[in-house]
Amino acid sequence: MNDLNAIVESAQAAFAQAITPADLENAKALFLGKSGRITELMKGMAALTVDEKKSRGATINLAKQAIEAALTDRRQALADAEMQAQLRAEALDVTLPGRQSGQGGLHPVSLTMERIEAIFGSMGFDVAQGPEIESDWFNFTALNTPEDHPARSMHDTFYVEGGSETAPNLLRTHTSPMQIRYAVQHVKKYSSKANGGEGQGLFSGDMPEIRVIAPGRTYRVDSDATHSPMFHQCEGLWVGENVSFKDLKFVFTDFCRTFFESDDLVLRFRPSFFPFTEPSAEIDIQFQSGPLAGRWLEVAGSGQVHPNVIRNMGLDPEKFIGFAFGMGPDRLTMLRYGVNDLRLFFDGDVRFLSQF
Ligand code: PHE
Repeated sequence: MNDLNAIVESAQAAFAQAITPADLENAKALFLGKSGRITELMKGMAALTVDEKKSRGATINLAKQAIEAALTDRRQALADAEMQAQLRAEALDVTLPGRQSGQGGLHPVSLTMERIEAIFGSMGFDVAQGPEIESDWFNFTALNTPEDHPARSMHDTFYVEGGSETAPNLLRTHTSPMQIRYAVQHVKKYSSKANGGEGQGLFSGDMPEIRVIAPGRTYRVDSDATHSPMFHQCEGLWVGENVSFKDLKFVFTDFCRTFFESDDLVLRFRPSFFPFTEPSAEIDIQFQSGPLAGRWLEVAGSGQVHPNVIRNMGLDPEKFIGFAFGMGPDRLTMLRYGVNDLRLFFDGDVRFLSQF
């Protein structure tokens, strides 16, 4: 019995010393393995009598069970310790502030575009989109700017390879081609309902007024603090039977006051020249208070649509009259937010952009 107790105790001690599962399996082999101490004792019983075998066998079995129990306990203890270590290693501090997922936002110029669309939309203007690669016809000729007209070189046009007078051959230098594109579609739609429309001839029947804005990207060979080779414009066109400069002044004043959230703002028309409008005017605004107070700021070109342009829309200039304007959303954005370098808008610096 004593020898067995000693074996059980030394097994317990060996198991306690094992600190990895492999250690423990090695320790187990010393006692329960093929030539382990218990196994050797079993083998040693061969010489005993049947009765002796019974009693000796029973005590050896008790010792074996004690060793197995110690082994199971130690296995469990090691597994628990491993689990605890793993949990500690993977611990999350749930009290740490969360990592923010980077949230994007609209570009300041996009915010301005949306604002322009919403304001003119509320005044009954449609919003139209057009191609950025244009043909001479829409960008110049149809807008009363024939070939060799100085305005063509004034625009510093980017030309693209291929193309022709009517096939796209340049990057549009302004959004004014949309005047023609939109008006032609509009006239087509209503002249086919034929109340005075002669098919090929100029339309002089009844139609709803043309009221549209066309925002988008425009291009010119130009680059400094206030000019970017890619910039934005928003065209406006209002054509009907009785539309005048006073309507333009009313609409544009209303737009500017809403856009800048200030009734403290006045407008002036300064005589100018554009081939596609006659008379033409620059629109300047002046804030009566705030950081920009007192300075005249140019925000748009405008004018009464030239009869030749009305004709190119398919309309009879004896009957239809209207005005057009083209404004710079980039400049409006600079004025609204107090930004003084246009290039900041196109550098893509998140530190700048995330302020809007
Ligand atoms: N297209 C002109 C420009 O780019 C602006 C303009 C539009 C002027 C419509 C008059 C009427 O400068």
